[in-house]
Amino acid sequence: MDISNLNRSTDLRHLAVIMDGNGRWARKRGLKRLAGHQQGAEAVIRMVDECPRYGIRFLTLFAFSSENWGRPEQEVRTLMDLLMAFLSSQRQKMLENGVRLKVIGDRSRLSADVQQALEDVEVATAERDRLVLTLALSYGGRNEIVRAVREIAGEVAAGSLPPEKIDGALIESHLDTHGLPAPDLLVRTSGEMRISNFLLWQLAYSELYFTETLWPDFDANELGRAVDEYCSRQRRFGLTEEQLLDAKDSMQKERHN
Ligand code: FPP
Repeated sequence: MDISNLNRSTDLRHLAVIMDGNGRWARKRGLKRLAGHQQGAEAVIRMVDECPRYGIRFLTLFAFSSENWGRPEQEVRTLMDLLMAFLSSQRQKMLENGVRLKVIGDRSRLSADVQQALEDVEVATAERDRLVLTLALSYGGRNEIVRAVREIAGEVAAGSLPPEKIDGALIESHLDTHGLPAPDLLVRTSGEMRISNFLLWQLAYSELYFTETLWPDFDANELGRAVDEYCSRQRRFGLTEEQLLDAKDSMQKERHN
């Protein structure tokens, strides 16, 4: 375990969000679900602007789950159209603001147009590093693990990987999120208290924060509240408080030597 990360709960580097409540936001106003998703896309743009102000370097958003393919065709089309509009309207701004786009999920299920537009922005922003914006699209945590296990099993079957070499780091290197740190904080909006098949492996030690606020209403103040709550938590990674204090103490001594 990397002890430099122990108990430094003010260091919020990676925020993951389950953006929930677009439909209820629209229904409360007598609007179509489309209007809720449109406002949801505006909230995404706000978060991309706000996160760097808190020192957040990685923002991972659950934008379309593998289960969302089961929604009415019209709604799936709306969500894909909003994604395409987001990519074309934000491309230049992302380049100017140092935002790198990354996509996780089973992208083979996305249409050729969407795959092409995503790849275009991913390639264009590949060298940006102020904020890594990861969109989970056609994503399911179990499916991600299944795909990783298949790859690993293939290497074992081919004789290039001895089974005893399989450890946590090797599994991580086969996940879609390889190269990203684990989320420090998971936020879910709209009062639902579930993980819903999001980042199942990666959330093992993340702090969880649930708010009643619907995603389209999630703004800079709401983000501030989530960050404040995160800062008040003590992350122990399965250790005791005494061990953490000792580790902190020896880190401080090392720094002074
Ligand atoms: C959950 O609300 C939200 C989604 C299924 C999609 C999230 C999409 C966006 C925020 C907009 C587009 C995204 C990008 C990246 C431009 P829900 O529809 O399940 O809400 P409900 O539970 O109230 O019905």
